[in-house]
Amino acid sequence: KSEKKTFQIGFAQCTMNDNWRKTMVDGMESELAFHNNIGMTIANANSNSARQIAQIQQFIDDKVDLIIVTPNEAKPLTAIIEKAFDAGIPVVIVDRKTTSEKYTAFVGADNKLIGQNAGIYANIILKGQGTIFEVGEGAKTSPTIDRHQGFLKVINQNPQLKLVKSLFSARQPQYFQEEIRAFLSQHPNVDLIYAHNDRLAHAIANVCKSLNLNKKIIGVDGLYGANQGIDLVRKGIISATILYPTGGEEAIKTAVKILNKQPFEKENQLFTTIINAENVGIMLAQYQKIKEQQDDIKRQASKIKELTRIFSTQQNTLYLTVIF
Ligand code: FRU
Repeated sequence: KSEKKTFQIGFAQCTMNDNWRKTMVDGMESELAFHNNIGMTIANANSNSARQIAQIQQFIDDKVDLIIVTPNEAKPLTAIIEKAFDAGIPVVIVDRKTTSEKYTAFVGADNKLIGQNAGIYANIILKGQGTIFEVGEGAKTSPTIDRHQGFLKVINQNPQLKLVKSLFSARQPQYFQEEIRAFLSQHPNVDLIYAHNDRLAHAIANVCKSLNLNKKIIGVDGLYGANQGIDLVRKGIISATILYPTGGEEAIKTAVKILNKQPFEKENQLFTTIINAENVGIMLAQYQKIKEQQDDIKRQASKIKELTRIFSTQQNTLYLTVIF
């Protein structure tokens, strides 16, 4: 009987507390379902860089075959990721970056481009003139840095567009709603709010509603599902969202190629686009189709599992019949 080769992946996930992360893991799991010889352990750092460093160290000590990591903060995570790479463990970085080139592959959308898209759309809906309030996640994370820089690059080309305040916090939206409320009550005339993700965008929309303010809001992520980005655009709660794919499936596809010593790309840039009232219908239809197909795949996978089980019991019976 030939022994199947088994690979173990260690996935160091910066946080698991939101739908974007859950969607990423779902994508990974549905891709892993095609590879029974690969196991994956997930370590959740709960947005704590020190914890994530310890978790990656543990993966190195455990001699996993490959590490997938979404680095919580760029600089603090750089050394440990370089250490894993230098120890000969392939490292696939997803979504957030470090400050080093020492990794095997990267999977994710370009956050500078996300910021630029937000800037381009801000310019369009403000008709080239207005004031902007920016709200983002932790200031040391690479998406915050890049989404801010990309945005500035575009709006700085137009002196009539003014970024009046950038508020960054590593806390979940519900915990810094008060700061957002304080700013908006003091600056009720701000024309547009650029939120670095749709959870923030939604929280901001609620604050605006309670203050009786009607503001244009741009978010990022564009997840499918009730009260996720696409739904918020469809309901007109936010003006637009910039698609930020999670890359779950792609991360596993890349990991599989690396583990099987097949050719792979080091840089795997995911597609992004502006989702607004005009194209939200098409996006919704597309996602519904994908969802149906995913459900079909899940059904087929469980059918195959069942058939394999029946087949192996039949084989055992046959074997016993031959012996006795
Ligand atoms: C999810 C999330 C997304 C955001 C991404 C940036 O945890 O906050 O909303 O786009 O991380 O890394």
